[in-house]
Amino acid sequence: MELLANRTAVVTGGAQGIGFEIARTFVGAGARVVIGDVDLDAATAAAEKLGGAEVAHAVRCNVVHSEQVDTLLSAAVDRFGSLDVMVNNAGITRDATMRTMTENEFDLVIDVHLKGTWNGTRKAAAIMREAKRGAIVNISSLSGKVGMVGQTNYSAAKAGIVGLSKAAAKELAHHGVRVNAIAPGLIRSAMTEAMPQKAWDQKMSEIPMGRAGEPAEVANVALFLASDLSSYMTGTVLEVTGGRFM
Ligand SMILES: NC(=O)c1ccc[n+]([C@@H]2O[C@H](COP(=O)([O-])OP(=O)(O)OC[C@H]3O[C@@H](n4cnc5c(N)ncnc54)[C@H](O)[C@@H]3O)[C@@H](O)[C@H]2O)c1
Repeated sequence: MELLANRTAVVTGGAQGIGFEIARTFVGAGARVVIGDVDLDAATAAAEKLGGAEVAHAVRCNVVHSEQVDTLLSAAVDRFGSLDVMVNNAGITRDATMRTMTENEFDLVIDVHLKGTWNGTRKAAAIMREAKRGAIVNISSLSGKVGMVGQTNYSAAKAGIVGLSKAAAKELAHHGVRVNAIAPGLIRSAMTEAMPQKAWDQKMSEIPMGRAGEPAEVANVALFLASDLSSYMTGTVLEVTGGRFM
């Protein structure tokens, strides 16, 4: 059963990590995928790996800029004929305690995650409501649920994504568009592998399942939320955490 047969998905930040794995899982489920990423070379290489022009396309997009998000979504409709799934996944970290975090580091993280997700959600919604169908999946974080030391910027942005997703879910439900979020815990990716060993060990000790998650384990939940398997779900936050901070 191909859960996303004949559907087109856009994944922001899909050049690597969790976003790439989501794109790969969607292609495996029959979707055509457009990857939007600030790193066009990496996005182009990722699209090649996914099977090339028949199923995947790369677009340079900084999600902070709404006109670049417009270009990304137009590419999906022009190339593949529809926009059925939008995954707002692009993200960065600029960790520092409040004593040392600069205003620029705060603004940058809020912009990429929160404004980026707002841009992606409202722009995708504008297209999907015309089609009276669509699924939007926003990537939050456990950091937004519990707050993490050194992440006042990131925790605020990720908690903001939950509020944004729920408000958007209410605005869009009667248009046939569902909006849900995923809150991953500690997932193996470039973002987490940059972490000092001590911080990694501390996090591991908090995880009942005793291991980090793999990007594919987030991608499978994204597939569930993107597909009709979750047809009666909107405004939810699914935790993919191995039981951490349940
Ligand atoms: N890895 C984890 O443990 C973890 C946990 C919780 C949530 N998350 C979230 O999952 C998402 C993906 O994280 P990841 O671990 O795969 O990170 P990653 O650093 O491996 O990948 C992030 C991707 O986003 C792209 N990107 C960054 N800024 C962008 C922008 N302004 N516009 C478009 N693309 C941009 C990067 O080029 C990169 O390809 C992020 O939103 C992150 O906050 C990750």
